Amino acid sequence: MKTYNIAVVGGDGTGPEVVREGMKVLNAVAAKEGFSLRSQEFDFGGVRYKRTGETLPDSGVEELRKFSAIFLGAIGHPDVKPGILEQGILLKMRFALDQYINLRPVKLYPGVDCPLKDKKPEDIDFVVIRENSGSVYTGMGGADRVGFPDETAIQIMKYSRFQVDRCLKYAFEYTRKRNRKKMLTLAHKTNVLTFTGDLWMRAFTEMGAGYPDIKRDYNHVDAATMWFVKNPEYYDVLVTENMFGDIITDLGAQIQGGMGIAAGGNLNPDPGGVSMFEPIGGSAPKYTGTGKINPLAAISSMDMMLRHLGEEAAADSVEQAIIAVTSGKLKSLAAGKMGYTTSQVGDLVCEAL
Ligand code: IPM
Ligand code: MN
Repeated sequence: MKTYNIAVVGGDGTGPEVVREGMKVLNAVAAKEGFSLRSQEFDFGGVRYKRTGETLPDSGVEELRKFSAIFLGAIGHPDVKPGILEQGILLKMRFALDQYINLRPVKLYPGVDCPLKDKKPEDIDFVVIRENSGSVYTGMGGADRVGFPDETAIQIMKYSRFQVDRCLKYAFEYTRKRNRKKMLTLAHKTNVLTFTGDLWMRAFTEMGAGYPDIKRDYNHVDAATMWFVKNPEYYDVLVTENMFGDIITDLGAQIQGGMGIAAGGNLNPDPGGVSMFEPIGGSAPKYTGTGKINPLAAISSMDMMLRHLGEEAAADSVEQAIIAVTSGKLKSLAAGKMGYTTSQVGDLVCEAL
């Protein structure tokens, strides 16, 4: 029997509550599909930081390397200055484990309220591939004469051809494997970012020549936000750099019904790479411990983890179970308005399995 070792990082706020439901569903589907699981919990997060001053230590990264995958709840604590936990835990994990793809499907499930008028599940079903290792996220730059009237600050958008190429290769292969419209849209801002935009565009065109079956498409990123709202059915797979991907995937999450459902995978697709799966939404401190938060985004992330591990049948049945719950049971995906508690929603998914 196949055994997967899952590192579980509940993190802050409602993170541990939603991850618990994800693990509940994972254990249920494992029993059904005949694979086994070992899991180990890690307490990286705001509480540990406040107690010990430690975010994600190097030894923690080495521990995480040994797992089949990482399942993460949320990072962010109201009493910790913004940036410390995000950089020290979430971004450190992404960078240290070289999770260079952030995969964010935008899919409207049946029964889910869509804020776009007249859009149906068949209209909203595309995937954003966000580059996850470069851009302004590298932390390059600096500030000078902070606090003086002539203070300056610089933050650098940096990309190597290697980083761009490995992301594009993943995107072209993904589009081919997805086998829908076979269209890959590059989103950038080549009309202003003439250096990094040119690098992405040239790499896209050159690599695309090796994928004659994939239609190449380009959007300026500002225009892409417009099309997400106006014509989401246009898209198949969209690839973009890190910062733009961060921004447009929050918009993507909203058109698929909000943070209650939006899932993401931070992938290291290389042999031996360790990937991390997390709901896109944050730690939602005001809902902590109230049982009001929707665990479907976490369950959906766990579903992506199954697909990534190669458990396609298990992933399909979890997805069908999620759809059974969104289409027949929940009043709303919003926290406190579901008509069920966090743990009841996990139970509903298990029953539907
Ligand atoms: C996300 C988040 C993170 C990001 C933050 C918390 C560092 O917004 O996963 O989208 O910017 O990548
Ligand atoms: Mn974000």
